[in-house]
Amino acid sequence: MSQNLQAVRGMNDILPDEAETWENFEDIVRDWLKGYGYRPIRMPIVEPTPLFCRAIGEVTDIVEKEMYSFADALNGELLTLRPEGTAGCVRAAIEHNLVAAGGPQRLYYQGPMFRHERPQKGRYRQFHQIGAEALGFAGPDIDAELILMGARLWGQLGLTDIRLELNSLGSAAERAAHREALVAYLEAHEDKLDEDGKRRLHANPLRILDTKTPALQELVEAAPKLADYLGDESRAHFEALRALLDEAGVAYRINHRLVRGLDYYNRTVFEWVTDRLGAQGTVCAGGRYDGLVEQLGGKPTPAAGFAMGVERLLALWREGGEAEVIAERPAPDIYVVNQGEGAQKLAFRAAEALRDIGLDVTLHCGGGSFKSQMKKADASGAPLAVLVGDDEAAAGEVSIKPLRGGGAQRRVSFATLSETVADMLYSGAHEDEGDEEGASDGSL
Ligand code: HAM
Repeated sequence: MSQNLQAVRGMNDILPDEAETWENFEDIVRDWLKGYGYRPIRMPIVEPTPLFCRAIGEVTDIVEKEMYSFADALNGELLTLRPEGTAGCVRAAIEHNLVAAGGPQRLYYQGPMFRHERPQKGRYRQFHQIGAEALGFAGPDIDAELILMGARLWGQLGLTDIRLELNSLGSAAERAAHREALVAYLEAHEDKLDEDGKRRLHANPLRILDTKTPALQELVEAAPKLADYLGDESRAHFEALRALLDEAGVAYRINHRLVRGLDYYNRTVFEWVTDRLGAQGTVCAGGRYDGLVEQLGGKPTPAAGFAMGVERLLALWREGGEAEVIAERPAPDIYVVNQGEGAQKLAFRAAEALRDIGLDVTLHCGGGSFKSQMKKADASGAPLAVLVGDDEAAAGEVSIKPLRGGGAQRRVSFATLSETVADMLYSGAHEDEGDEEGASDGSL
């Protein structure tokens, strides 16, 4: 006996009720991105493994332990299911010369990403991101715009309780100077560190700043701050960004410990965070990555961007009730019922003719009595049913029955079907004056 096959752990089916909400969400997001001049780009889901090692960094959680990597069975090439979109987007921009040929680019992508993390609420192994990348922009204005975009989208979705955390990571040289000072400070207090801290002291001292151990909080609070090691240019960039955010009335908290889990960032980093989703509360995150294009073989090109986690945002959207209102199951305009072989042929033609004039039509498939078909027609929410029986088919006619708000059934020639239906739909003859009157008795 074979076992029932199930989806891979941490990878979810998105069933129709939910997928409709996803599509509504994606429509809103696409309009919003267009409103800021972003253009779509679609990259492959599989990329050469070295792309992610170089872009995200060898010593990151993602590259060290979360990538789905495999050797191509045919030629042995090392490939990886993309764990994020920035690396692929930058690779594509370099490969196709987008910035050199077309100037600065505002690009967006959406789709599944893959990370072998421990699944829990809001954290999956296949999850979806919508990402925006602004390539070829050096100034703090684009950083501010990327952040304002987020604020606007939360407003449009009716999402409250999302706060902005902001930090500047400065340049690589500034981070190195800070690290040196941090290590010296921690070495001077090594006796106070726990085992974990001692282990990380030289391998990854910045991680000690993330410690949750209560006894270490005081030590960590007093440690050298990266902010004090920023040079004039990084400082000016951050100040200018803050001024633009203040001017726009976007509130933020400067979080000196916000470092992000990917190595490509410099200067601005930010996260939009909510407390309403438990431990996985970051719904959108990003920042500046001025060195990445060059690091991946392109000409030096400043850049910044963000990606949001679709599952997390949808969970918030659903919780607020806003999603429910928008995601009512879409009803067809017409439900076509039919019985008999001749009737079925005419029913197919009728359904196609009505689709020709732009209507959404559900053609009853699977047979059954008129009565049971009419029940389905009612349940579909369509305002009108088109009924075809064999005697009608023989006469080249069809019947049209209002399903909502009463109104008389009419029998018309096939040639005038579209016109009559359009009349009935748009004159409001079917108007939804109350579902209680809408039940049809199912008779022809
Ligand atoms: P990230 O912080 O790794 O950044 O991911 C961005 C967002 O994707 C997170 O804030 C979260 O909402 C969502 N996310 C990440 N992992 C999971 C998961 N396992 N399950 C569910 N949702 C998840 C990046 O990926 C960068 N590429 C963002 C960026 C774009 N920076 C500049 N441009």
